[in-house]
Amino acid sequence: MEEDRVAPDAYVEKGNSSPKIVVVGSLNMDIVMESDQAPEQGETLLGSGMHLLPGGKGANQAVAAARLGAYVSMIGAVGDDSFGAEMLDALEQEGVEVSRVLRRAKTPSGAASIWLAGGDNRILVYPGANGTLGAEDIDAPENVRLLQEADAVLIQLEIPLDAAVRAATIAREAGAIVVLNPAPAAALPEALLRSASVLTPNRGELAALVEASTSDETRLKEAAQKLAAASGGAVVTTLGEAGALVLERQGGTAEQVPAAQAGPVVDTTGAGDCFSAALAVALARGNALPEAARYAACAAALAVTRLGAQGGMPTEADVRRLYSAGSTPSADSAEDSGA
Ligand code: RIB
Repeated sequence: MEEDRVAPDAYVEKGNSSPKIVVVGSLNMDIVMESDQAPEQGETLLGSGMHLLPGGKGANQAVAAARLGAYVSMIGAVGDDSFGAEMLDALEQEGVEVSRVLRRAKTPSGAASIWLAGGDNRILVYPGANGTLGAEDIDAPENVRLLQEADAVLIQLEIPLDAAVRAATIAREAGAIVVLNPAPAAALPEALLRSASVLTPNRGELAALVEASTSDETRLKEAAQKLAAASGGAVVTTLGEAGALVLERQGGTAEQVPAAQAGPVVDTTGAGDCFSAALAVALARGNALPEAARYAACAAALAVTRLGAQGGMPTEADVRRLYSAGSTPSADSAEDSGA
C-alpha cells in the first residue's frame, strides 16, 4: 500500500497525488447473509452463505481512500468488544490511521445485518458506539488539527448529526473539500448543508432530502437543483447501473456520467462508499468535478465485482486501468506522458 501512496501518479493532472483525507464516520461489523431470495415478513429461509466482515460507511470510505493512495485518518468510535478490535485491525492493515477512533467502555460496537439476495442488498444498522460520537469529541484539539490540515473530509450520517455538523464546519472553515454522503437519509441542519462542498446522495436519499419525487429524469434533475440551492454546493447523485448525475452548482447544467463496466456484479454493498471516497480523492488531487465523478464511477464499478464492502475496494492501479480504457481525454494524456 505504501508504494501506491508515494509513487508518481499518472492519473493526476495537478496538485497532490497523495492527499490527506479525514473520514468522520461509522465502523460496523457486517453480518452478511447470502440467499437466493430475501425472506418475506414472517418467513424463515435457509441461507447459502454467511460472512463476518468489517464495514460501516465511514470505515468503508477510509479503506477506499487509502487503497486509492491517500493518507487517511479516521475519527469515530468503537466498543470495547472483539468486533471493535477486529475493525481497528482491519483499518490499520490498510494503512488507515486509527488513533482518533475512540474505544468506548461497556458499549457494543456498531453492527449491520446485511441480506444479499438476487444481486442486491438490504441493510439494518445497529449504531452501538457510533451513536456516542458527539460534537465535544470532534472538538478535541487533535481532531480539530486533523480536520484543519485535511485536503478533503468525508462525512456520512451513521453518526450523530451534531458530530457531523461540527466536523463539517471546522473542515470547511479551514478550506478543506467537504464531501457529505447523506446516508442513511436524514433531515439535514442548515449548518451541515452549507458546509458541504459536494453532496453524494443516491436517488432515494435525494428524494428524501428534498421531499420530492426523483422517479424520472426531469424530476431527478429538479430535485438535484433543489438540493444544490439549499446547500450552495455541488450535488452528485449516484444512480447505480445508470452512473451518476453531476450538478456543479444550482442553476448549472446537470451532466450524466455513465457507469463503468468492470465485470459481473457480485456484491453492491459499499459501492456508494467507494464512489464518495474516490470522488473526494480525485477532487483533493485537483481534478474538476465531472472528471472526478468519472474516476469515482470506475472505482465503484470495480467495487461491486467482489464480495464485502471493504474487501471489494479497488486500488489506484485498478481504477486507473479502467479509467484509461474508457479513453477519457485527461486519462489518455496522463498515461501517454509516462508520468
Ligand atoms: O454502505 C455499506 C455499509 O452500510 C455497510 O458496510 C454497513 O455497515 C452499513 O453501514
